[in-house]
Amino acid sequence: MRYLIFTDIHGNVEALNALLKFIQKRKIDHFICLGDLVGYGASPNETIQKVRSLRPLSMIRGNHDKAVSGFDSIETFNPIAASAIYWTKKNILKKNNEFLINLKKGPQIIHNHFVICHGAPFDEDYYIFGEFDAAEAFEYLKLPLCFFGHTHFPFVYTKRDTAVEGTFLEGDANEVKLEKNVTYLINPGSVGQPRDRNPHAAFAIYDSDSRIVKFFRLEYDVEEAQKKILKENLPPALAERLSLGI
Ligand SMILES: [Fe+2]
Repeated sequence: MRYLIFTDIHGNVEALNALLKFIQKRKIDHFICLGDLVGYGASPNETIQKVRSLRPLSMIRGNHDKAVSGFDSIETFNPIAASAIYWTKKNILKKNNEFLINLKKGPQIIHNHFVICHGAPFDEDYYIFGEFDAAEAFEYLKLPLCFFGHTHFPFVYTKRDTAVEGTFLEGDANEVKLEKNVTYLINPGSVGQPRDRNPHAAFAIYDSDSRIVKFFRLEYDVEEAQKKILKENLPPALAERLSLGI
């Protein structure tokens, strides 16, 4: 089976369009979305509709999805993120808000084979930043493979016996062959707001037969995404960061 794992689209339909074009020539059995469909970007409605059109096998909620749909307080967000959440709340269509309300909470188990979560397996809002966090997350895993999002960095953490190691996946083409007796926590990076100083949209494809996870980065129409953010009077910093990948 080939699973396309994507997360943190954040209302950036231009980045999502690059992914949709890419998959036209690829065989994907299942799409899996790890949350944060909205927030920051100026196209929450198109993003939700296009993600839904993929008929994902599983979709879980992110912290921005929760804040927009009213499950979470906006007070925990920084002022720039909060203003984008208020804008999204005002502009989201009722049917799309309903969709966000009904997103599942992570972690979820896929095909009895791997785990997905937005932040961490023990807390959907927790950021796994570094080996200390990863070591805690590994304690909660009941399966040897977990995909997570939330940090917007493509990263692989491994646990061999008791040793935890993290690897940042730099550049546009990486792949990891999963080994036996090793446990993995894998972040495919963010589609719509990468923060690793590489502005290209990030996602991954996991082939469960070959046990290979391939990481992809795609160029997209950043300028168009920026124009829309500025036109909607969202904070200009949200447009600037897209071209810098921060
Ligand atoms: Fe996010």
